[in-house]
Amino acid sequence: MVYFIASDMLKTVEKTGYCMYSNFAIDPAIVDTTLLVRDTTEPSSVKKNGDYVRWNVTDDILKYFDGLNYIAGNIYYHTTPYEVHTDVFTDDIGVNVLIPLEREGSQKFIVFDQTYHGSTVWKPGNGRVEQRELNTIFHGRPCETPVEGLTGLPCGLAKYLPEEDHFYDGLSGSLIEWEPGEGLVFPSINLHATGIMDSPKYGLAMWFNNTVEEICSHFEM
Ligand SMILES: [Fe+2]
Repeated sequence: MVYFIASDMLKTVEKTGYCMYSNFAIDPAIVDTTLLVRDTTEPSSVKKNGDYVRWNVTDDILKYFDGLNYIAGNIYYHTTPYEVHTDVFTDDIGVNVLIPLEREGSQKFIVFDQTYHGSTVWKPGNGRVEQRELNTIFHGRPCETPVEGLTGLPCGLAKYLPEEDHFYDGLSGSLIEWEPGEGLVFPSINLHATGIMDSPKYGLAMWFNNTVEEICSHFEM
């Protein structure tokens, strides 16, 4: 394991194997600007009776990311967890950037060490594989699909996740406190999921054709 602190504002934790994620400090102006966009524009999508709502990212938000290679993004609200998934929905996506905006209580987010090259969701099921727009849906456990880096062991983080424990067999990873003020960046091929949720949250999700290091350098100033 390699661990280094490049500055007070930047903390990078690099694990051996497949996983790497980093936290970075967020300029409060990004959060304020994004919340203003949320409050003054109509949602771009509302799904599942309002449990999942999204708003478009505007130029006012993108100005904080000048110089990075932005691909896509949205402001999001959800009340129930996102399943285990990966986010490579176009070939040029390199990293996910998540910026927590608002939460009521503790929120956990899990970045797994394991990877899969695709835009993919895993749900409990009988092994059926389904294509839904850009997403491949595996109705089965990640360990029963061609995920790279599987441990062959039970997942130590299963108790923080919504499905029954064995659904997560073969996965390992990092348990992250999702809290405003701390941005999060990780490779989009890494499986990730929302922890069990007791209350809703708002965040900003963005995808870049950049590396984890380039995102952290951008926010180091
Ligand atoms: Fe994601």
